[in-house]
Amino acid sequence: MISLPLTLTLLLLTYLITNRITRYLRLAHIPGPLPAKITTLWLAHHQSTGSLARHLSSLSKTHGRIYRIAPEWVMTSSPAAIRQIWSARGPWYRGQWYDMFRFDQPVRTILSERDNTKHAALKAKLLPGYSGKDVDNLHEVVDRRVDDLVRLIERKYLSSDDGRVYKPMDLAEKAQFMTQDVISELAMGRCFECCDNDRDTYGQMTEVTGSLPLMVTLAVIPWTLNLLQNPVVRALLPKEKLEGVMRQQQVAKSQAAERFGEGKVVKRDMLGSFVKHGLGYTSAWLETFGQIGAGSDTTATAIRMTMFYLMSSPGSYGKLQREIDAAVSEGRVSSPVADEQAKKLPYLQAVMKEGMRLCPPVMGLLPRICDTEQVVCGVRIPPGTNVCWDAISIFRDEETFGADAGVFRPERWLMEGEDVEKRKNMDFVQGLVFGTSGQFECLEKTIALLELNKVFVELLRRFDFALVNPLTPVVSRDYSLSLQSQLWVRVTRRPAAL
Ligand code: HEM
Repeated sequence: MISLPLTLTLLLLTYLITNRITRYLRLAHIPGPLPAKITTLWLAHHQSTGSLARHLSSLSKTHGRIYRIAPEWVMTSSPAAIRQIWSARGPWYRGQWYDMFRFDQPVRTILSERDNTKHAALKAKLLPGYSGKDVDNLHEVVDRRVDDLVRLIERKYLSSDDGRVYKPMDLAEKAQFMTQDVISELAMGRCFECCDNDRDTYGQMTEVTGSLPLMVTLAVIPWTLNLLQNPVVRALLPKEKLEGVMRQQQVAKSQAAERFGEGKVVKRDMLGSFVKHGLGYTSAWLETFGQIGAGSDTTATAIRMTMFYLMSSPGSYGKLQREIDAAVSEGRVSSPVADEQAKKLPYLQAVMKEGMRLCPPVMGLLPRICDTEQVVCGVRIPPGTNVCWDAISIFRDEETFGADAGVFRPERWLMEGEDVEKRKNMDFVQGLVFGTSGQFECLEKTIALLELNKVFVELLRRFDFALVNPLTPVVSRDYSLSLQSQLWVRVTRRPAAL
C-alpha cells in the first residue's frame, strides 16, 4: 500500500518531468546550447554576468540565424526578421520581460505597456511632447547643458601639454552628468545640475546601475518579479532603500502636482505637453520619471563609446577634427553649433552612426511574442515564444556592412557611387539602434541626436582627448542597457582652440 505523501510526491515529480519534456520538445527543432533548451537558469546566469549580448552573439556563429536561448525563448541575428517582427501593426507584441519596467509602479508607462492598442493610444498623447513640437527652447536647453560640460572640463580637468598639470577625467561619468542635466530639464523643467556640482546630484546614477543586474536577471524569469512585489514576501526581505531614486521620484511627483488643480502651472515643456494631451497625475509623473532612466545612460553610452572609438582610431579622430575646424573657419558652424549645421558635416554624421552601430546603447533582449504560430527565418515559431534580437550580430552583420563589419570605419557611410540598395539597407539596419521604424521606435531619437550633434563639435573644437589606460581603456557591461565606467581620459586645450 503506497502512502498518501508518497503518492503526492510521485504525482508532482511526474508533472514536473512531463512539463520539462513538453517544454523541451516545443522548440526542439531550433538549435542552441543544451542547458538553454532545458532551463531558463542558463539565460538568467548569462544575463547576470553583464556580458549577455556578447555571449549570445557568439552563438549565431555556431547555430545560424535563429537559435534557442531558453525553453521558451529564441533569438535571431537576421535584420530582415527583426524588421518583420518589430513592424507596426504586425501580430507581435511585447513579452512579459517588459514587466520589469513596471516594477512597483501603479500604472503602465510607455516603456512597460505591452498591449499594442493601449501602447498606440498612450504614444499619441506623448508624441507632441517628445517630438519637441509642444516644447519651447529645446535647442537652448541642450546648448546650455553642453556648455556646462565644457565649463566643467575647463574648471577642473584640463591637463597641460608639458605634463606639469595632470588631471585625468572619467569621461564615462561626465558624459552622463551632461545627459542627466539635459533630460531632467527637458522632462521636468528642473535641471539636476550634475555638471555644475560635478557629482550625481541625487545619487541615482549609481543606484540604477547597481540595481539593473538584478532587475534584468529577474526579468527573464518574470514570476520572480511578481513574487517580489507580493506584500508578504516584501515584509520578509531586507529593506533596501534607493534613496536617490526616491528623491528623484519626489521631484517628478511635485513637478507633476503643480500642473493640476487650482492655480495649476501651465508650461510649454514635456510635462506640460503630456498633461495637455490628457495624462492624469500618476501617469504624468511616472512618464516624467521614466525618462530619466531611459534617457541618461543611453545617450551617455553613445557619447562615451563614440569618443572611445575615435580615441582608438587616430585617423578618424584627425579627420573629424579637421572637418569641424574647416567648418568653423569657413563660418559654416556657429558657437554654439546649430543642429542643422552639424547635420551638414558628413564625417561627423558617419562617426555617430558608426559609434552607435558598434556599441548600441540598448542591447537588451526586447522580446516580442505572438498568439498565433509564425515563421521566422524559415523556422516554425509556436505561439507564446519570446523572439529576441541579437543586437551585436545584427549591427556587425557582414552581409549588410561588409567583411570589416566589426571595425570602426566611418568611411563606410561615405562611399561614393555605392550601390543604392545596399546603402539603403545599411541605413535601415543601423536605424534599428533606435528601434526604427517599428511600433516601439525610440520616442526621443530626435533629442538624443540633437545632443550628439552638439556635444562632439563643442568638445572637439576646443579640446584634445587621449586615453589614459590604452590597455584597459574602459569597463563596459551590458545589462540590457550598455553601461560603461572608468573611461579615463587626459584632456588638453587645443593649441588654437576654435
Ligand atoms: C542614443 C540614445 C538612445 C538610443 C540608442 C535609444 C534606443 C531605444 C530603443 C532601441 C528603443 C526601443 C525599445 C523597444 O523596442 O522596446 C527605445 C525606446 C524608447 N526610448 Fe530610447 N534611446 C535613446 C535615447 C533615449 C532618450 C534620451 C530618451 C528620453 C527619455 C528615450 C526614451 C525612450 C522611450 C520613452 C522609449 C519607448 C518608446 C515606445 O515604447 O514607444 N530614449 N529607445
